This record gives sequence, C-alpha cells and structure tokens, in this order.
Amino acid sequence: MSALGPSHRLPRHIAIIMDGNGRWAKLRNLSRDKGHVRGVEATRVAIEHCVRLGIENLTLFAFSTENWNRSGQEVDHLLALLAEALENESSLLLKNNVKVKIVGNREDFSGELQKAIAKLEIATQENQGLRLFIAAGYGGRWDITNAVRTVAKKVSAGTLGISDITEDSFSEFLSLGGVTDPDLLIRTGGEQRISNYLLWQLAYSELYFTNCLWPDFSESELEAAIKSYSGRQRRFGLIGE
Ligand code: IPE
Ligand code: IPE
Ligand code: MG
Repeated sequence: MSALGPSHRLPRHIAIIMDGNGRWAKLRNLSRDKGHVRGVEATRVAIEHCVRLGIENLTLFAFSTENWNRSGQEVDHLLALLAEALENESSLLLKNNVKVKIVGNREDFSGELQKAIAKLEIATQENQGLRLFIAAGYGGRWDITNAVRTVAKKVSAGTLGISDITEDSFSEFLSLGGVTDPDLLIRTGGEQRISNYLLWQLAYSELYFTNCLWPDFSESELEAAIKSYSGRQRRFGLIGE
C-alpha cells in the first residue's frame, strides 16, 4: 500500500544518483559486480513505482564520464549490464508505456551497446507514459560543452544570432532539452554531492540524500523522498509569503 495520499505534491521530474552498489556488496563480502547486479533490480523497482505513482519524468544516473576511470573489468561489467538490462527490460517497459531515452556521450560505447540503445529508444518512442532518461556516459560538463558546440556551429553557419542565445533557447540544446527541470534529486549511498550530474538542470531542484545503499532502495524509500519533497516550500528566490 502506498503511504502517499492526495495531500502529497508529486514531483513532475525525479532525478536519481543511484550510488552505493559497491559498498552494499562489500558489506556482504561479495564482489562489486554482484552489487551492480542487485542495483539493476532496485532500478526496476524504482521505475515501476514511478509508473504507478504517475511521475512524468525520471532521470537515472547509470554511468558517469568519470566512471570510465574505474578498472577495465568494472567498466566492462557495468556497460555489459546496461546492454543486458536494456534488452531484458524492454517488454516490461513497453507494457508499462514507458518512453526511454539514453542521454550522454555514446560515441565510446561498443557497437553492441549502441545498437541496444537505439533498439529500445525506437521500440518505446510512441509510448505516452513515464519518460525515462538513462544518463550513461553522462557528465554535466560534457552536456554543457556539447550544447555550446551546437550553438557555436549554428552561430557560425548564420542560423542563430548571438542575441537569440538566452537561458531558455540554450537549454534546448542540452540532453534534456524541452524537459521540465528535475523537481527532486535523490542520491542514495550517503554522499552529499552532485558528482557532475545534471549541473544546469539541478539549479533549483530539491535535494534529498539518504544513507540507503542503492540495492536496498525500495518503494517505501522512494515514497519517503517524495514525502520530504512534498513538505518543502520552494521559493525560487522569492519570499515565503
Ligand atoms: C553506483 O555504485 C554505480 C555506479 C557508479 C556506476 P558504486 O559502484 O559507485 O558503489 P560505491 O559508491 O562504490 O558503493
Ligand atoms: C555517481 O556515483 C555516478 C553514478 C551513480 C552513475 P559515483 O560513485 O561515481 O560518484 P563519486 O565518485 O562518489 O562522486
Ligand atoms: Mg559510488
């Protein structure tokens, strides 16, 4: 049973830094790989619960630009798990009317992973339910730099004037262009930092940090975060009256 009632204000967009897989495994004397496998299961639970709650947008941090610096073995395992999950979860995502988009720099991914991404994006593109963004090969600085390049190309081609560059028009060139900014950022695993996630888009998000390790993140953990969000007063620089 959901602990959320009609009095709880739902975020339109939830972003999550799914952290703590390695520590979850270490606590159990398991390999980090096992932690990541359990992390995929927690991800499925979170997605399905967002669908049930009627959340419009969910953006999950799966693999950062900095995660490329982990051991080759761990990187290979993480990216293989991602490819496998995109493949295996496809029918469940379709059933749940979820529209999937992978955001991040996919150029360095294997051909197999790039194919799995394209296949799932095409298979779910007409879906009208939850919009699921998976940030992989993603870094906030990469995102902004990439958008600057696009803008610079347009300016030099004469299709965009310098005076037309505004916060709104610029944000259209970011990975989440056109998507409402995250209302709520959840980070599991106890660290209280952004780790180069959605640097532009988190400007006014409510931040929620929990010590819960990602493989333990459950429906009730998600609801606790939403409840906390729901009780906050967002002022956006105004005064609270
Ligand atoms: C999150 O868990 C998964 C990724 C960053 C890909 P970690 O692997 O960072 O787990 P900890 O932080 O070492 O516990
Ligand atoms: C952030 O977690 C990236 C993802 C969850 C994909 P990290 O574990 O990589 O972040 P740091 O290194 O603790 O900042
Ligand atoms: Mg970590």
